Amino acid sequence: MEYINNELHFGPSKKKLSSLCANYIRPIYVYDLDFIRSRLKQMAEALAGVRLYFAVKANPNPQVLQCLKSAGAGADVVSLGEIKRALESGFLPEDIVYSGVGKTRHEITEALQLGVLQINVESLPELERIGEIAEKLGKKAHVALRLNPDVSIKTHPYIATGLRDNKFGMELSMIPELTTCLKKYPNALELVGVSLHLGSQMLEFSGYQEALMKLKEVFKNLQKDFSSLRRFDFGGGLGVVYEKQDLELEARLLKEYAGITLEILSDLKCELQSEPGRWLVAHAGTLLTQVQYVKRTSAKTFIIVDAGMNHLIRPSLYEAEHLIKPLVKSAKQIKCDVVGPICESSDFFLKDYEMDEVKEGDILAVMDSGAYGYSMASTYNLQELPLEVCI
Ligand code: LLP
Repeated sequence: MEYINNELHFGPSKKKLSSLCANYIRPIYVYDLDFIRSRLKQMAEALAGVRLYFAVKANPNPQVLQCLKSAGAGADVVSLGEIKRALESGFLPEDIVYSGVGKTRHEITEALQLGVLQINVESLPELERIGEIAEKLGKKAHVALRLNPDVSIKTHPYIATGLRDNKFGMELSMIPELTTCLKKYPNALELVGVSLHLGSQMLEFSGYQEALMKLKEVFKNLQKDFSSLRRFDFGGGLGVVYEKQDLELEARLLKEYAGITLEILSDLKCELQSEPGRWLVAHAGTLLTQVQYVKRTSAKTFIIVDAGMNHLIRPSLYEAEHLIKPLVKSAKQIKCDVVGPICESSDFFLKDYEMDEVKEGDILAVMDSGAYGYSMASTYNLQELPLEVCI
């Protein structure tokens, strides 16, 4: 984001945002598809040889998905809804990796009938369920075991997934039972992979490195029993910098992450898979919202806007900070709380925030909201969902 002649411009190709607001009626998520393409290219180059499956939950907008598909990505999905959206957006069943802890019988049946590439299994009863259903259908399910290495990463506790007390993945001590189950269904279950996902918004990689080393050994041991084992899926989770725009720092972090990954996994000589979400789309999206009131109390100045926690829940849920800038720059600064219209005190974007002075009717950009923005939006208070526009 950058001001040119006092007007806010978006993304590396500096697209002017004000032209989108001529007929403004309600908040708009704007996605820059060129930016998404360039992020995918950058990540694919750093992780050379790795197949990237975009985590659809981060941004299931059909045009975003079409863009990623045509640029060479696969799709990582966690529900039948996401499978359908991916297929409608041009992905083929063989582009789809299906993860998630709670797959229902109906979802598994549909996924097997469609022939998705791989199902990442999260528990012994799920493996048993897949075996049973596949046998009945006369299909062979290609499964990867999502293992939980009991390793912690520095992130918000709500988005950490690789610890013993998280519901995700399976403990390494389960492997004998998983092996027995796999062998019980030789015609219905084919073990193709091992998978891992430690959590999201990872900016420091010591825990990740430890987990890869642990699972590399597990992979080698499992291969002795299962010659079909040929893929290592190291999940998603690479973080972005929200506090300021620093694409160079992110490029360095990407290099470090890719270096660790490839150094540890390359000699397995297997197919490598990754499931990035946030890193590809977070910066490529911004939420435009209109100032409704400037409300001054003895304690604070509140800038009340028409977007709220219903449109972007990350600040309320994870204390995430998304920078906010008005589309037109002003010379004067104010200190304010930027808040939404929802009847909850947790409905805020930023508190005690130094921002250019704004007035009723001005449009603000809530930055870096291309990941987990619209996809987590709701109609709470019966507010309408925001609009989405791709540029
Ligand atoms: N793979 C699996 C199995 C996942 O559960 C996730 C995210 C990803 C890949 C993609 O992770 P990413 O590369 O985007 O970090 N709503 C939260 C983030 C939740 C992430 C859930 N799983 C937020 O807004 O920060």
